[in-house]
Amino acid sequence: MIEVRELSKRYGDTVAVDALSFDITPGVVTGFLGPNGAGKSTTMRMLLGLDHPSAGSVTVDGRSYRDLPAPMHEVGALLDPKAAHPARTARAHLRWLVRAGGLPRSRIDEVLALVGLSEVADKRVGGFSLGMYQRLGIAVALLGDPATLLLDEPANGLDPEGIRWMRNLLRGLAAEGRTVFVSSHLMTEMQQTADRVVVIGRGRLIADVDTAELVRRGSGGQVKVVSPQPAALSALLTDEGATVRGDSDGALLVSGMDSARVGDIAMAHGVRLHELTPRRVSLESAFMELTDDSASYRSRGLGAVDTEETATVAHTPATGRPEGSD
Ligand SMILES: Nc1ncnc2c1ncn2[C@@H]1O[C@H](COP(=O)(O)OP(=O)(O)O)[C@@H](O)[C@H]1O
Ligand SMILES: [Mg+2]
Repeated sequence: MIEVRELSKRYGDTVAVDALSFDITPGVVTGFLGPNGAGKSTTMRMLLGLDHPSAGSVTVDGRSYRDLPAPMHEVGALLDPKAAHPARTARAHLRWLVRAGGLPRSRIDEVLALVGLSEVADKRVGGFSLGMYQRLGIAVALLGDPATLLLDEPANGLDPEGIRWMRNLLRGLAAEGRTVFVSSHLMTEMQQTADRVVVIGRGRLIADVDTAELVRRGSGGQVKVVSPQPAALSALLTDEGATVRGDSDGALLVSGMDSARVGDIAMAHGVRLHELTPRRVSLESAFMELTDDSASYRSRGLGAVDTEETATVAHTPATGRPEGSD
């Protein structure tokens, strides 16, 4: 259990983290979402005691990181995947950490197998791709078999197969009862991975919700209806309090009413339906709506650059991976 309370961090004039409060509970994967520069890494560094809060506090199981008696067993972290010395082999990198942490050497082969690096264990990490560095970083995080995992943008540089692998790994670790907190600037990546998302922008909390709830909220209960009597249906639904608009294909998009009620009203008035579909909205578009609505996010003088940055979050994988390649 991670508890963040009124956590703030300033660097000179920059407010990197602004009075954040949230809890990260065990047994689920919690995504930490926000555009580049939102304050995700800064928050994670404060969690690990690598940076001092300007105000507020963050604790892991009731203690600050520095007071944890066996930190490697309690918190495993991946902040900078390139933190390994390029001239060392993957195995040598892990051996050094195992020794520093007083962990059993048998753990080295276990974690190498877990992250799929057994075959390159004796290769120098200098020749590794970014994806392999990420896997090694995850191996390091897992060395102490920690109850809490903090991973900062672990999907960067992974190919679609790597992303799927990581998704399963994280879900498995959470299912074992661990606390899994994983950041990303890509909404699409989190949609299938995270049970919960904490969304921040400009250091501030925008949302702290179940992924399903966020998608539901974003959809606003929209229903797509196709009928050969659109005008009659539209009038009936509007009379019952729904908001109805037509889309370009001649379908009706109904808000403020669920699909069962739409069907019942049509039935009661003998209006034929050819299609009745609760519209599913992606986490990505829910996020866009959320940030559109967020006064705190918008009211701080977002200029063209920031708007572009927000768009980048939703649409452009930083890795150059084609959208939807997973
Ligand atoms: N050591 C630092 N010194 C000065 N500014 C920093 C430092 N670290 C982060 N920042 C600033 O704090 C803000 C948040 O950065 P960061 O936590 O890295 O965001 P994210 O990880 O969400 O991309 C950015 O404006 C960044 O430039
Ligand atoms: Mg970051």
